Amino acid sequence: MLTFRPKPSAAKPALYRDLLEQLAALFAGESDPIANAANASALLFWSLADVNWTGFYFLRAGGELVLGPFHGKPACVRIAAGRGVCGAAVRRAESVLVPDVHEFPGHIACDPDSRSELVVPLRREGAILGVLDLDSPLRARFDGEDRAGIEAVAEAYVAASMFAG
Ligand code: SME
Repeated sequence: MLTFRPKPSAAKPALYRDLLEQLAALFAGESDPIANAANASALLFWSLADVNWTGFYFLRAGGELVLGPFHGKPACVRIAAGRGVCGAAVRRAESVLVPDVHEFPGHIACDPDSRSELVVPLRREGAILGVLDLDSPLRARFDGEDRAGIEAVAEAYVAASMFAG
């Protein structure tokens, strides 16, 4: 049984190195994208300080994003192409770090407690499969080290998971 080792006070690079090790253990021998997304979102939620939502949206026909496994309060199920922070990450094909969601035009407020957000695209061979989304109730909770760490998490998730099509 895997034991969580949350160390919210650890320096971020060390925290993310530890997280990636735990993810590798969770993904070992498992390639189901839903199972891996479920465990990844749980691990992120319980390992990172000051997050109120961690989860996945998957890209579907017409560029719509559809809710996947997550931890946190129930969230918007479908996000139309290009909408919100999640849609912006897909459109730009890059991570979007929003220090204050109140200042991001078009932000979709699933949980009114969310104040800052980090959305990282899931990529495989140049194609975008969806996004990994983290919300925090604190302003400017995420920085460049979080972005690098969560991009590495997204990469590990895609590498471990077998997507249909
Ligand atoms: N805030 C996101 C919507 C998803 S929730 O944060 C879970 C957005 O603006 O795209």
